[in-house]
Amino acid sequence: MIDFDRIIDRSDSSSLKYDARQAYFGSKDVTPLWVADMDFAAPEAVTNALVHRANHPIYGYTLFPDSLFTAMQDWFQHRHNWSINRKSILMCPGVVPSMHAAIEALSEPGDTVIVQPPIYPPFFTAVTETGRKLIENPLKLEQGHYSVDLEQLEQCAASGAKLLLLCSPHNPVGRVWQQQELEDILDIARRYQLTIISDEIHADLIYPGYQHIPLATLADDIAIVTAVAPSKTFNIPGLGLSCLIANDRQHWQAVKQVFDSWHISATNPFSLTAFEAAYRDGESWLDELMAYLDETRRQVTEFVEKNLSTIKVIDSQGTYLLWLDCRQMNLSDDELRLFFINKTKVGMNPGISFGEVGSGFMRMNIAAPRKLILDALQRISQA
Ligand SMILES: Cc1ncc(COP(=O)(O)O)c(C=O)c1O
Repeated sequence: MIDFDRIIDRSDSSSLKYDARQAYFGSKDVTPLWVADMDFAAPEAVTNALVHRANHPIYGYTLFPDSLFTAMQDWFQHRHNWSINRKSILMCPGVVPSMHAAIEALSEPGDTVIVQPPIYPPFFTAVTETGRKLIENPLKLEQGHYSVDLEQLEQCAASGAKLLLLCSPHNPVGRVWQQQELEDILDIARRYQLTIISDEIHADLIYPGYQHIPLATLADDIAIVTAVAPSKTFNIPGLGLSCLIANDRQHWQAVKQVFDSWHISATNPFSLTAFEAAYRDGESWLDELMAYLDETRRQVTEFVEKNLSTIKVIDSQGTYLLWLDCRQMNLSDDELRLFFINKTKVGMNPGISFGEVGSGFMRMNIAAPRKLILDALQRISQA
């Protein structure tokens, strides 16, 4: 049994989540339930592999060994029933940079790119910073349930959009898209020659009763570029290594050219060591993690239902991020942000940073020892 209740002091470890509290919240004195990493030790197999590698005292330039690809391919075959061709994989220094590279490679400046807010903020900047035009297709929220607005997606596609940035599962609302929903999106892509960049970084963080379906397993006649990584799954995001999988050879080539032009085709010895060890030996750790997170999610939801009448937890199907509907608190976004920082000492991400439709919401990261989360909820309830 892994002890996910163990509190590990992360202060002064150059942790963004902890050490940037003063800069982000204006106070060091908040429980940081924001940035999407976990306050849990990574799988022991990963740490052991890193220590073993560190004991070899030469940290020279690297290449990607066959065993790394095998570990990754086996993982996706076994966990997601996805058979990935080695030739379709491109190693990348992270999902966000890979999204930038894919946008540059697969569209032209001035082209329109669809994003579906509320959405992880770098989706917006990946479009605007590459000189493309943003077109928004906000998710529909009906009776506490989010879905893709297919009618409006079709209008966006018909207006000449070139790319769709899909987030699957969706950060921040925690939706795990079902097969029919993905088929409907693919149908629109097929009719309007839309290329899809599918960010599936949260693919392994799925709660019981739901199943992540890699978009690329549903269609090979539509250009799909998928981003995956072990970073969220095994809590190694600081090691920054991910993959793009392009189901079209020309697209693979085009993205590779962008990366080559940035001169970042290699990585460091630690990133590739952790990447391989996690996919090869991390499965039982992940299963225990998801059981722990599932129980935390249940307890948070129950607590909020019982004690916080003006907050609703949006039912989460995946990811360790909970999307809290605080609209009934009747506060402006600024007041809401300051209320949580000053009155409850809980540091969460304001919903408004995920787009206009996130107004009145907060995003809570529950991947921390449960006591920390429950104490934070107590303080919210008292305030
Ligand atoms: C949907 C999504 N994509 C990408 C990232 C970040 O990926 P990376 O650190 O590999 O750039 C995150 C991190 O929270 C995320 O939620």
